[in-house]
Amino acid sequence: MENLDNFSFLDAKPIKNSFAEQIIEGLKKKNKSLPSSLFYDKKGIDFFNKITSTEAYYPTKTEINIYQNQSKLISNKLDRNSALVEFGPGDMSKIRYLLKDIKPKKYIGIDISKEEVKNEGKKLASEFPWVDVISVCDNFYNENKITVDLLNSIKEPKIGFFPGSTIGNIEPGDAKALLIKLKKLLGLNSKMIVGVDLLKSQKIIENAYNDPEKYTEQFNLNILNRINNDFDANFNTEMFEHFAYFNDQRNRVEMHLRSKQDHNVLVSDLEIEFKKGETIHTENSYKYSVDKFISVCNSADLDCNRIFKDVKNWFGVFLLES
Ligand code: AVJ
Repeated sequence: MENLDNFSFLDAKPIKNSFAEQIIEGLKKKNKSLPSSLFYDKKGIDFFNKITSTEAYYPTKTEINIYQNQSKLISNKLDRNSALVEFGPGDMSKIRYLLKDIKPKKYIGIDISKEEVKNEGKKLASEFPWVDVISVCDNFYNENKITVDLLNSIKEPKIGFFPGSTIGNIEPGDAKALLIKLKKLLGLNSKMIVGVDLLKSQKIIENAYNDPEKYTEQFNLNILNRINNDFDANFNTEMFEHFAYFNDQRNRVEMHLRSKQDHNVLVSDLEIEFKKGETIHTENSYKYSVDKFISVCNSADLDCNRIFKDVKNWFGVFLLES
């Protein structure tokens, strides 16, 4: 791509999560589990994108619909000439619906995936020549001085953008802690736009994680292939089946991989025993009521200024203020 005046890249050199330790630790537990962040290797990202194109998986399209239809309303509540900071932008597709109305001076995308955040930032900068785009490679769950200093050096009022109901993948108590971190990172008088999947009929939720195209199944099973490839293990995906259900006690979808037979697997030098029917818990996806999410925000000392929803009330975009 040609040289772009309105693009820059900062590598904050995030400390890589030690997946190896987390994998072993999770598989040694009585109730086996794996970190859901492991899903997103190249193949996993492809499967996730396929999931979002299915009829059954409503969250992504419902959220995009809100941005498409209510971009002006959302923007009316925000400062012009701001610095818009997106946490985990991936392909930067969602922000495109909002830029023309929010009209920020700067856009900062912070993502762990270095090449992706760099390349997508360049594309965004060439498409929106009036925005200064800064791509940052970092893990925003850690408080990294390089990123903190960058954000401190930016004087425009900040608007955080955390879409995709990514916040649903962590425990509500951790969501509170994360919101406090993000608020601190954005600084005084900042605002935040957070996309959250809402509670709805159990059947609709469960269908979204059991699409007939079986992309969710492949996405789930792919975690085992990734461990085989990157961490020297001998999982046989044929020995496991996809299992996803809504846990109505805890208001979350749980994804598991269930062993079809008694069998053993080698991970590094460790032999892991699976009983028939035993599962590896691979993901939680919390669904919030509006009130519950507001109470999480309030516990993080954030006020909820407005909520933008689709007509079915399936997804909420919360506008927060410190
Ligand atoms: C991208 C994390 C929000 O929890 O719904 C999709 C991931 N898992 N299908 C979600 C996912 C299974 C998704 N998030």
